[in-house]
Amino acid sequence: MKDDIGNPIFTDFKVDESLEWQMSRAEKYCLMGLMKELTPDVAIEIGTYKGGSLQVISSYSQQVYSIDISDSPSKFLSPKFANVEFVVGDSVHCLTNIFQKIEDDGKRLDFILVDGDHTRRGVYRDLEAIFNFPHKHSITILMHDSFNPECRKGIRTFLESHPQFVAYAELDYVTGSYWHNGTYREMWGGLALVKYDPKNQGQELYINQSQRQLFESTYLHSAHLVKDRMAFLFPLKRKIFRSLGLKNKGDIYHDF
Ligand SMILES: C[S@@+](CC[C@H](N)C(=O)[O-])C[C@H]1O[C@@H](n2cnc3c(N)ncnc32)[C@H](O)[C@@H]1O
Repeated sequence: MKDDIGNPIFTDFKVDESLEWQMSRAEKYCLMGLMKELTPDVAIEIGTYKGGSLQVISSYSQQVYSIDISDSPSKFLSPKFANVEFVVGDSVHCLTNIFQKIEDDGKRLDFILVDGDHTRRGVYRDLEAIFNFPHKHSITILMHDSFNPECRKGIRTFLESHPQFVAYAELDYVTGSYWHNGTYREMWGGLALVKYDPKNQGQELYINQSQRQLFESTYLHSAHLVKDRMAFLFPLKRKIFRSLGLKNKGDIYHDF
């Protein structure tokens, strides 16, 4: 049997198995529980991919905006989700317009899943775009892959430098792991949870990292010690594969 940290799950939520879902079992249960509790008026998902997480967000929300830099998801997922508006583009450039539209429509944004660009800079920029808008209500923000060292750094450095509206922050709301996809000891998964509250001003910020020791000891045995230092070579690798007409199997988020 093939190792799979995402399946099986046992739930009364009718999971559509045809929609690939990039989360572990614990993360799936967490998202389902959180959505059931929040029942958002409006939710935003950054990183649609093949619709796995979107099926849950869509099911519990009145309205959803799902953003992806690729136009593939909107093509094959549109017929499945009547309450979802698919937005194609870099999340950083789309978010402000969506926030404004929600406000102009007199609606309330309750939830954001950040699961798009997982680089340190990418996550930082997503959070910056979220916090730069003068939201009137509190928002629950869930960030996937907080166990990935670069992604975690992006979240942590942003929060440390922008403590103003952070009412609660936990980087290990759900713990990640070495991923199961054959990549040599790469740390992925994990969910960080941040509660944004415009009323929260001047309070001291505490960033919870309830599995910090696990994170740090796992890191010492991980591929990231070398790999993250070589990250500047990745665009070159992509270029070489493209010019040779080859599909880079590790590059699953391009041309899907
Ligand atoms: C990990 S997948 C999302 C998985 C999905 N949330 C799930 O759990 O089933 C990441 C997605 O983010 C998209 N993405 C990457 N960078 C992005 C960006 N800057 N803006 C919007 N989407 C981006 C990729 O195209 C990819 O489809």
